[in-house]
Amino acid sequence: MTNAAVVRDLRPAERSGPRASDALIRGRRVLPFPDGWFGVCFGHELKRGDVRTVPFMGQELVVYRTHAGEAFAVEPFCPHLGAHLGHGGKVDGDNLVCPFHGLAFAPDSTCVRACGGQKPPHATLTRRLAQERNGMVVVWHHHAGQAPEWEIPDADTQGFSKPRGSSFDLEGYPHDVTENSFDLAHFAWLHGFTDVAMHHETGPQWMESHLTGRWHGVEIKIRLIAHGLGYVLGESDVASLGVKVTTCAFPTPTAPLKWTFRWTDAVRVARVSALPAALSRPLYALIIKLAHKWFVHVVAADFPIWSNRRHVEYPKLMTGDAALAAFRRWSAQFYPGAPVSDNGLQENGGDPWPRA
Ligand code: FES
Ligand SMILES: [Fe+2]
Repeated sequence: MTNAAVVRDLRPAERSGPRASDALIRGRRVLPFPDGWFGVCFGHELKRGDVRTVPFMGQELVVYRTHAGEAFAVEPFCPHLGAHLGHGGKVDGDNLVCPFHGLAFAPDSTCVRACGGQKPPHATLTRRLAQERNGMVVVWHHHAGQAPEWEIPDADTQGFSKPRGSSFDLEGYPHDVTENSFDLAHFAWLHGFTDVAMHHETGPQWMESHLTGRWHGVEIKIRLIAHGLGYVLGESDVASLGVKVTTCAFPTPTAPLKWTFRWTDAVRVARVSALPAALSRPLYALIIKLAHKWFVHVVAADFPIWSNRRHVEYPKLMTGDAALAAFRRWSAQFYPGAPVSDNGLQENGGDPWPRA
């Protein structure tokens, strides 16, 4: 079976049900697309009147911003004769206008105008629920079309620098970002932290870790809160330097084993915040540039691991992997159907969500 055939098999519309173990790409298991809120573009990338096409869960979405400033996401094809609205579609006031024959669709997705004064047909676009949270346009995805039962909360960055962001197209599993937040051992081995310790708490759709450690001898505390698998809020505190960093991380599945990782950092330095705005503003512009560059450098150590690792559904855990084991149990709720092993048999003593 070719990779192309594997990809086709896994598109949600063609699946008869969850089949976590039914395909491998380069020896790596393909998982179903997870449910939840996932970022599709930075809010600042979508100016008023902009129309963009974005990859999302093995399909494309068209996102646009009305002249009133609201962002929307729709499936790309016009119900008239199937033109792709991301290729030539235009925003006219609050409406999205098809490039082929000019049908105009209102924010509620209904067709409100046709060309040449004709009566608009009873037609609607397929709208996807979109919101803007922490500088990101996020779209709700549920494999069975259920409405969201939770939201991504706003991060409190009052008194912080303006955020600075980056975006990377990676291979692997988007839950690698959230899983990282609960993977104590890798902070020491891969990222160079020392004296690391972690405790965690688990809620219905959120999970939180508190990490303490030292980086080059400087004590750092990091609180990481995952809201579903599409968003992690990080709050780093280096008390000895009076520095706090707020990180908003958005991993988004784009295709089987492909995902885009977007994130922003904002920084607060006590001594800089105490300065007059005329001084603190340019200083913060420089500091956030350097701080974000450093964060990218640190997180990029994960990239080759994430891009090439295989998802091990029944991991052989170490004694320090308690938070990781809890994450695996918590995160299963976002995948349609409980994952099973390649041969359909339970392994690891019969417990698919092991306790460390
Ligand atoms: S295909 Fe969109 S208006 Fe005809
Ligand atoms: Fe990491």
